[in-house]
Amino acid sequence: MHTPAEALGAVRALACGARLLTALEQVGDAALVGGAVRDLLLGRPPRELDVVVAGDPEPLLAALGPGEARRHARFGTATLRTTDGCVYDVARARTESYARPGALPDVAWASIEQDLLRRDVTVNAMALDHLGTLTAVEGALEDLHGGVLRVLHDGSFRDDPTRLWRVARYAARLRFTVEPHTAALAAAADPSTVSGERLGAELRLALREPDPPAALRAAQALNPRLLPDGFEVRERAVREALALLPVGEGRADLVVLAACTAGMDVGTLLRWLDAMGFPAAERDLVAAASRFVTGAPLRAARSPSEVARAARGAPVEAIALAGGENARRWLHDLRHVQLEITGEDLLAAGVSPGPEIGERLRRALDRKLDDGEAGREAELRWALE
Ligand code: CTP
Repeated sequence: MHTPAEALGAVRALACGARLLTALEQVGDAALVGGAVRDLLLGRPPRELDVVVAGDPEPLLAALGPGEARRHARFGTATLRTTDGCVYDVARARTESYARPGALPDVAWASIEQDLLRRDVTVNAMALDHLGTLTAVEGALEDLHGGVLRVLHDGSFRDDPTRLWRVARYAARLRFTVEPHTAALAAAADPSTVSGERLGAELRLALREPDPPAALRAAQALNPRLLPDGFEVRERAVREALALLPVGEGRADLVVLAACTAGMDVGTLLRWLDAMGFPAAERDLVAAASRFVTGAPLRAARSPSEVARAARGAPVEAIALAGGENARRWLHDLRHVQLEITGEDLLAAGVSPGPEIGERLRRALDRKLDDGEAGREAELRWALE
């Protein structure tokens, strides 16, 4: 564990961090807060810079420099993107009360100490100011040291069930354990008091964690109602599919989801993805890819052209999930093979315009895949046969 002074040094070493410290010094009664403080004390780079300020956040925003601020007046929060590319989440210190379980909170302005008490888990309820002074809720440092996730009060998950997903993500990412009383509260919580869209947003964050299967497993263990019936964390399928997905292509998060929903009834899967707020294109990709897991044509293909016939037109995510040597060959080699001739050549050779052109080109490509490089003349001959 790092000391607050070391954590402050790590902030200063970041370009966006040094600027923040200067701004904090100018306005006073403001501090770095939440996950950034947790990560810095753990010796990890902060994922984002969240700042809490007691009172009007405008002077701090001005001190952070020119940029574009998106403000949420109701919560006293603003996200500032400076012209030179730093991002700061600035929030006015507040207390929150929930009119009913899962409702958006009503807020009242407060001190930084009070603001810490509205937060989710002890290890997130810490603030570090520009002098290196750490303010933390009771037990926060002990929990950080012990790798423990503990909610601040018994109503935490009832107030905001999205915290179930947050705890699952932290458990997976930080390899922390959930303290038994917190685990009991999580198991008893009812996620259905928040909208599917909000739960879906949390699920999407879990799918983008460094170890998504671990985050999904943690969520299932915390509260099985976070994921639908038939959802199964298929770690091996995920690992194999992600290893096949070409670098920089395809959506790894959707591959993970498809691998884990392969056993679900398709109607249930589509309804759940809709409820979780997935756009239609993503929903259909997950559904198609997840069905491909059991689809055998690609695995059964015996020649390059058979591989092409099974794989052509399918998204890379679905191919990666289908797995096996044929999937690898398609993704990394066969799908890049192209003909030297085009439809123009066939028209020039007297083939009449229409779907026949495409069919002849496809036939020629299949021959090329099976027989290898043979030059323009051969390609034209195959196409005209
Ligand atoms: N927070 C909370 N309850 C929520 C959302 C946020 O108490 N439902 C608090 C936590 O103290 C959290 C801080 O707001 O640390 C900032 O939220 P966010 O940026 O989402 O959390 P991080 O801890 O920074 O998350 P991550 O490490 O995943 O970036």
